[in-house]
Amino acid sequence: MKYFFANWKMYLDNAQSVELAEALVPLVGDGSNIHYAIFPTALAFAQVTSAVEGKVSLGAQHCAWTPTGAYTGAVSAELYKRAGATYALVGHSERRHIFGESDHDIRKRFEAILGACLIPVLCIGETKEEKESGKREYRLKKQLMTTLEGMELGHREFFVAYEPVWAIGTGDACTPADADDIHHWIEEELRLYTKNTISILYGGSVNASNVSEYLKFETIAGVLVGSASSNIDSFRSLIAAVQSL
Ligand code: PGA
Repeated sequence: MKYFFANWKMYLDNAQSVELAEALVPLVGDGSNIHYAIFPTALAFAQVTSAVEGKVSLGAQHCAWTPTGAYTGAVSAELYKRAGATYALVGHSERRHIFGESDHDIRKRFEAILGACLIPVLCIGETKEEKESGKREYRLKKQLMTTLEGMELGHREFFVAYEPVWAIGTGDACTPADADDIHHWIEEELRLYTKNTISILYGGSVNASNVSEYLKFETIAGVLVGSASSNIDSFRSLIAAVQSL
């Protein structure tokens, strides 16, 4: 089983989201080899949920950490759960770098996502400077540690998405061999926090031409795809590529 998670970010309005979701339903097959999940905007979430008719899972791009209450503008993990979500992204580079979320914020969101019985997808990744100065592992270690250390994980399921900041939306994807190496390292590191086997996704400039190269590696359980998943032509090509594996 491989995972294909589509992060639609803020690319699509409601009508476009529904149109794309409806177009995907006949393409995704029975989900036995590839498990698909869509992460639409909060605004389009309910309509996309109806459009996929239970054939594709849904996830939240971002969650507040309190369940309900007087929090203007926020949508909690709990409310996403009640609306039909299975997953929630947390720690995405755009949240860290554009919206200034700290490792501490990310830990609180991760806990709230587990508390709402959603499956967190913890995104981690280093900047170009960190990579070039040999601090990649240091940065990833810190991101994992500040989120997971001392957390009561038991047998709780979660994903890690390795998404190097320099590869997101740039066309400068991490090579599959390099992603395989670092996924190995992340697997080892995760043993400090959980006995479960954690699926590790790769994200950053994945497209129809490179997706199958990533999925050939055992350490790469799936992909988290942004812009290439946000229009029907490239999504169709991505699906064709992963289904021919
Ligand atoms: P990208 O984004 O595929 O557009 O590089 C990936 C992500 O941010 O999840």
